[in-house]
Amino acid sequence: MNFKKNILCIGAGYVGGPTMAMIAYKCPQYKITVVDINEDKIRAWNSESLPVYEPGLYEIVKKTRGKNLFFDTNIPKCIKESEIIFVSVNTPTKDYGVGAGQAADLQYWEKTARTIREYAESPKIVIEKSTLPVRTSLAMERILSSGKKNIAFEVLSNPEFLAEGTAIRDLENPDRVLIGSRETESGYIAREQLVEIYANWVPKEKILTTNLWSSELSKLAANAFLAQRISSINAISALCEKTEANIDEVATAIGMDARIGSKFLKASIGFGGSCFKKDIMNLVYLCRFYGLKEVAEYWEGVVRINEYQKERFTRNMLNAMFNTLAGKKICLFGFAFKANTGDTRETPSIFIAEKLIEERANIIITDPKALENAKNDLGHLNSHIEYMKDPYKAVQGCDAIALLTEWDIYKSLDYRRIFELMTKPSFIFDGRNILNHSELYEIGFNVFPIGKPPFTHFK
Ligand SMILES: NC(=O)c1ccc[n+]([C@@H]2O[C@H](COP(=O)([O-])OP(=O)(O)OC[C@H]3O[C@@H](n4cnc5c(N)ncnc54)[C@H](O)[C@@H]3O)[C@@H](O)[C@H]2O)c1
Repeated sequence: MNFKKNILCIGAGYVGGPTMAMIAYKCPQYKITVVDINEDKIRAWNSESLPVYEPGLYEIVKKTRGKNLFFDTNIPKCIKESEIIFVSVNTPTKDYGVGAGQAADLQYWEKTARTIREYAESPKIVIEKSTLPVRTSLAMERILSSGKKNIAFEVLSNPEFLAEGTAIRDLENPDRVLIGSRETESGYIAREQLVEIYANWVPKEKILTTNLWSSELSKLAANAFLAQRISSINAISALCEKTEANIDEVATAIGMDARIGSKFLKASIGFGGSCFKKDIMNLVYLCRFYGLKEVAEYWEGVVRINEYQKERFTRNMLNAMFNTLAGKKICLFGFAFKANTGDTRETPSIFIAEKLIEERANIIITDPKALENAKNDLGHLNSHIEYMKDPYKAVQGCDAIALLTEWDIYKSLDYRRIFELMTKPSFIFDGRNILNHSELYEIGFNVFPIGKPPFTHFK
């Protein structure tokens, strides 16, 4: 079949895979190829067991794979054949040298730019899909244009706003698609080509075009604002616990103000995932770089509160359980950083598991999708940990349950049966405030929500 365009994506991860699957699904006239240096990942994308779990993803991949969606490892060949290249490689926080712990590690990004330059034989539009520091596209332009071949490259920024767990819904119905370009004739022409791809399913008024720097900065700023809301409500939850105010009631009351809005106001053990902390620290680094100390400190506070919330949760567990966890069995309900994903990058559960083991507790972890990742994350502690898919088996003989991921299944378990299986007194620490606390109390549990008075049977 003759395709209208050959589109390539370099990086077959949580963003590259689902994003390209959606483009392939919505645009049968384009041939979409996704490549990666990790051959196992490409093999998994070509199998029945995809490397990323997202509701609805498998169905879309099944409909398109082998028709207009291809996963490949021959990067040079695919670069040669494509007109448009998305770059969706990882951009983690640097853990060495200048900017360690804050700046983005751009080594994968830069390597990709050099690979494109090496193998390109015709003009290409290169699109930043990864989240990058402001003005990174300038570096991309410089690397691409420093080759001997004199090929025209146009660099665009098209940050991805999908949220893991709802990626397919977000990609199908995005709040907006953001496209940044150079404000030059060739920049506008390239931008129009990308607009044309999205316009196959996204209403035109939702496709926002800006200059390159606004687009790059908007992604960092959006993640910083989202994380800030979580830290704001979590900060108030700490005060609720001291004053007998109820965080859910407070959240409802403030969320009804149209200027504030009701979304993202759920108190919890804190945010995780590969992006929020990384992107805020990246923002902090940029602010420091430009001499904006006060601005850097302001955003750093969002991360500080997040660390505080995890620390507070484990300290509350220790206090509630008579100041000793040594030898006690604690079951963690959920390990993924949020529901509907198997992703455990930066999940608060890692910190909480480590702290509980430091207190000499024995841990049993259950999660519908994240057990394999949990085993890798906690490999160094595995002699203190058991992993069990079935929550009823996992709670056997436990002193406490700590609910860490808001999976729906945890709302509908038979807690009477669970209570019978546990050691007494039995505790539940609801790190997501999703359970029916008074019902659990009536069953016999001592219940500790976040930002609400506990329900205990102790005099
Ligand atoms: N995960 C999210 O929810 C999310 C959302 C929006 C934006 N982002 C951003 O998107 C980018 C990618 O994130 P991700 O979660 O998909 O990362 P990921 O680690 O899941 O995937 C990145 C992939 O790039 C591959 N890769 C690295 N260097 C390569 C190279 N030189 N050639 C070919 N492949 C290479 C890796 O092997 C890996 O499979 C990051 O910048 C991230 O900040 C992520």
